[in-house]
Amino acid sequence: MTKRIAITTGGGDAPGLNAVIRAVTLAATKRGWECIGIRSGFDGILHPEDFEGDGTIELTPDTVRGIAHTGGTILGTTNRGNPFNYEVENEDGSTTVEDISARVIEGFKRHKVDVLVAIGGDGTMGIAGQVADMGIPVVGVPKTIDNDLNGTIATFGFDTAVSYATDALGRLHSTAQSHQRVMVMEVMGRHAGWIALHCGIAGSADVILLPEIPFDIDKVAAKVAERNSKNRKFSIVVVAEGAKPIGGTAKYHQTGDVFRLGGIGELVAEELRLRVPNEVRTVELGHLLRGGSPTSRDRLLSFRFGAAAVRAIEENHLNVMVGLDPPTVHYVPLDECTKSIKLVPLDCDSIQTARDLGTCLGD
Ligand code: F6P
Repeated sequence: MTKRIAITTGGGDAPGLNAVIRAVTLAATKRGWECIGIRSGFDGILHPEDFEGDGTIELTPDTVRGIAHTGGTILGTTNRGNPFNYEVENEDGSTTVEDISARVIEGFKRHKVDVLVAIGGDGTMGIAGQVADMGIPVVGVPKTIDNDLNGTIATFGFDTAVSYATDALGRLHSTAQSHQRVMVMEVMGRHAGWIALHCGIAGSADVILLPEIPFDIDKVAAKVAERNSKNRKFSIVVVAEGAKPIGGTAKYHQTGDVFRLGGIGELVAEELRLRVPNEVRTVELGHLLRGGSPTSRDRLLSFRFGAAAVRAIEENHLNVMVGLDPPTVHYVPLDECTKSIKLVPLDCDSIQTARDLGTCLGD
């Protein structure tokens, strides 16, 4: 039976989104099915007037040609478009938060959608679960550079972020060594330390600070001093944006009334300046980790996830998320993925590897 699939990309973008869109479209077309893409999360359905056409894009082998290597998402995305919790502007300019999910369901009916493929992180999987509860079958595809989603060993976008951050560490090494400086590099990752840990090990950082291990700044300073005493008068410190000192809290940047994690790198630098003789400089990689072309590993994972999502629909495995469970891709019930975030386990071999290499983890 012909099926009509709607694809949405939600939350922050990540390298590999376009490869998933291509894989779903090609695998669906091969089965004689149809695909449409919803513009900007669910906004294409909620506010079609804000877009050219009807707020959706017809996805065919032609419209998804040549996109797998590109960053971002051809559909657009938003991390403010939760239809169950939607900020609505009133006539007097004030805003209220309302549940307008019924309009999404109406929109699916209007577009004759049989199944939704929701590509996103924990926020999108939560929304997908609620959409499923309203009677629209859903298959989720796990995306986030943070790798903090349960139900999958890896999310696509993570490898690209780690590769970029590792390259940045190589660059910081040479300038840090030349100037005998301490370079503090802050990376994204929300409340999980996956990016910091993996790039820190791969890029031979001297100190790695993770949200999972509250740090003692004196231990960090002692590591720098130890290196200075061995005539290695430069040090590289990687800090996850969600890291916090023992007994302290995470740091946030504020823009208007929006708070975003960030700034802990500068705080670590300020505290180190009080304790070590080296000049200490910081760099915050921020959204550079999210942009650009996906690595081959992320492209492959995206293609595997996209094709598996279509197989799940064919096999009637609905209201699940596809996930990587080496050597295969499996299906996990949506609610199992969103109960909690996937943190770095303190007893994992990567943590042990960092310790065995002599890396300071701030504890
Ligand atoms: O979840 C991905 C992520 O890049 C996090 O690492 C970061 O904290 C957040 O999104 C930043 O979001 P925004 O694009 O809204 O600043």
